Amino acid sequence: MDFNLKGKTALVAASSQGLGFAIAEKLIREGANVVISGRDETKLKPKAERLNSIGTGKAIYQAADLTRPSDIKLLAARCIETFGRIDMLVNNAGGPPAGEFVELSDDVWQASFELNLLSYIRLIRETLPYLKQRGGKILNIASSSIKEPIPGLILSNTFRTGIIGLSKTLASELAPDNILINTIAPGRIATDRVKHLDQVNADKQGVDIGVIEAQAKSAIPLKRYGTPEEFANVAVFLLSDANSYMTGSAFLVDGGMVKAI
Ligand SMILES: NC(=O)c1ccc[n+]([C@@H]2O[C@H](COP(=O)([O-])OP(=O)(O)OC[C@H]3O[C@@H](n4cnc5c(N)ncnc54)[C@H](OP(=O)(O)O)[C@@H]3O)[C@@H](O)[C@H]2O)c1
Repeated sequence: MDFNLKGKTALVAASSQGLGFAIAEKLIREGANVVISGRDETKLKPKAERLNSIGTGKAIYQAADLTRPSDIKLLAARCIETFGRIDMLVNNAGGPPAGEFVELSDDVWQASFELNLLSYIRLIRETLPYLKQRGGKILNIASSSIKEPIPGLILSNTFRTGIIGLSKTLASELAPDNILINTIAPGRIATDRVKHLDQVNADKQGVDIGVIEAQAKSAIPLKRYGTPEEFANVAVFLLSDANSYMTGSAFLVDGGMVKAI
């Protein structure tokens, strides 16, 4: 299958590690140029070097805190300044803190809104003029919480579903410009984020993290966590020319974990 990504440019938000980095890596292998980002420049530099050592596309990095509108503008500007075009936007961000309703203050709610929903809105607004030039793809990273709320993750359960409303609405508004927008929802893909959440649960229950991992895996029909590469395969398909007729949809990558139909 020809993804037809050579010479195209992707802006991948929050991609210094984990799911975002795996998507950037797969895009580079398919010949796309990529801008990776995160808050920490020292983390980004070696990651961009690693991507450039793979070929065939070119990678650059730009430090950006997605809660800052000026950083989001800078990110899009850097992409245009270097590559002259944006064909793909991958909306991603760090995960919100775990916690139940009674534990969370207005400040925490506001911070999660800004990181996990408003940054997606702002990045779409900033990249839209360029996506409109040739048509393109927007891919949002959400969570299995869009289908089934996760206990102890009320911030994710609330704001990720907002991404779905946004995306479904934009699918109609952007279709005349041949911009397709979709969402992928990870279940449990083995990254630092999942390790952190497993550790939070282990501490709460006073057990070893291995116990929590074993419980989680036994609830997944495929009996294991997914790999970032498996997740990136789906992402790159949705971003590529191979996807020409799917927009406004949300796709679980969860090994069958979510039981909702
Ligand atoms: N892995 C899963 O199975 C899973 C499941 C459900 C949902 N998710 C969600 O999917 C997203 C990505 O997950 P992941 O597993 O790849 O997480 P991760 O390994 O923790 O990576 C998060 C990335 O976000 C960046 N980031 C965090 N805060 C940022 C900010 N304010 N501005 C810019 N970049 C920021 C981090 O870089 P810096 O720290 O250097 O800024 C890092 O590159 C998260 O929102 C996560 O909650 C993941």
